[in-house]
Amino acid sequence: KDILNLNLFGIDFKNPVFLAAGVMGETGSAMRRIAKNGAGAVCTKSIGIEKKPGHNNPTMVEVEGGFLNAMGLPNPGIDEYIDEIEYIRKQMKDLNVKVIGSIYGKNEKEFEKVAETIAEHVDLIELNISCPHAGGGYGSSIGQDCNLSHKVVSTVKNVTKVPVIAKLTPNVTDIKEIATSVEDAGADGITAINTLGPGMVIDIESKKPILGNIYGGMSGKAVKPIAIKNVYDIYSAVEIPIIGVGGITTGSDAIEFMMAGASAVQVGTGVYYRGYEIFNKINDEISEYLLKKELKMSDIIGCVHN
Ligand code: DOR
Repeated sequence: KDILNLNLFGIDFKNPVFLAAGVMGETGSAMRRIAKNGAGAVCTKSIGIEKKPGHNNPTMVEVEGGFLNAMGLPNPGIDEYIDEIEYIRKQMKDLNVKVIGSIYGKNEKEFEKVAETIAEHVDLIELNISCPHAGGGYGSSIGQDCNLSHKVVSTVKNVTKVPVIAKLTPNVTDIKEIATSVEDAGADGITAINTLGPGMVIDIESKKPILGNIYGGMSGKAVKPIAIKNVYDIYSAVEIPIIGVGGITTGSDAIEFMMAGASAVQVGTGVYYRGYEIFNKINDEISEYLLKKELKMSDIIGCVHN
């Protein structure tokens, strides 16, 4: 499997297929299962300063081509979560799987505090700047504003030694502008994309929206072409590595993201379509393609730009 080894941000990963934030990342045991099924890294659910119960049920609904979710960033708060992270980290060490700590906050001060606490317990930090700030619904997020994004990234970079990657929202006019800002602020990498929308589904029997929060972010197969275009645009604007995410369920999907410019990928909704085994399956499918075509991963990353 050496064909899938990669070094990103100075870290060795056994393969480029990671678990995305928010999916199965709440408990150590769920993450261990993902790790045992071949993920190269696992990402936690986004953690904030204080405990947050999240939005009312239902928080997720299946739609054509994917899911809508409005979980509302439920989490136990950073101080409570550290024990869980330590447990996760121990389990992951044995399996040679890296741990990405996803964090959120409503401003740079909150991000700074959470980053300081989590840094020594994870291999890298992913800044969820694509979540709604100021406690709102699915309105604006930090990642829609270049200055706010820059401020959060540079503040966190100032207080941590572990690599810091910023997860971007596709819900912007110019993704290149945001990508350039976070690179400028010192981000070691970019994850793209968070969920698209928001979208909404109505139950015509009850004449009411289905989601407790009324609307939510779209994930899954239908968002893949949009995610690919975002990765393609970001690759053309920055030098730092990109982790592609958005509707990846097969090795061909992952390869498409790589060709657009992603060095690694994350799988979220895909777990619902293909089960825990999806990580091993995607890795096998990527290897098979590379061997058949006599290519290395580095040959395909960003190759459509040539
Ligand atoms: O789609 C999302 N849902 N993206 C996030 O960043 C947060 C999450 C949630 O908890 O609602």
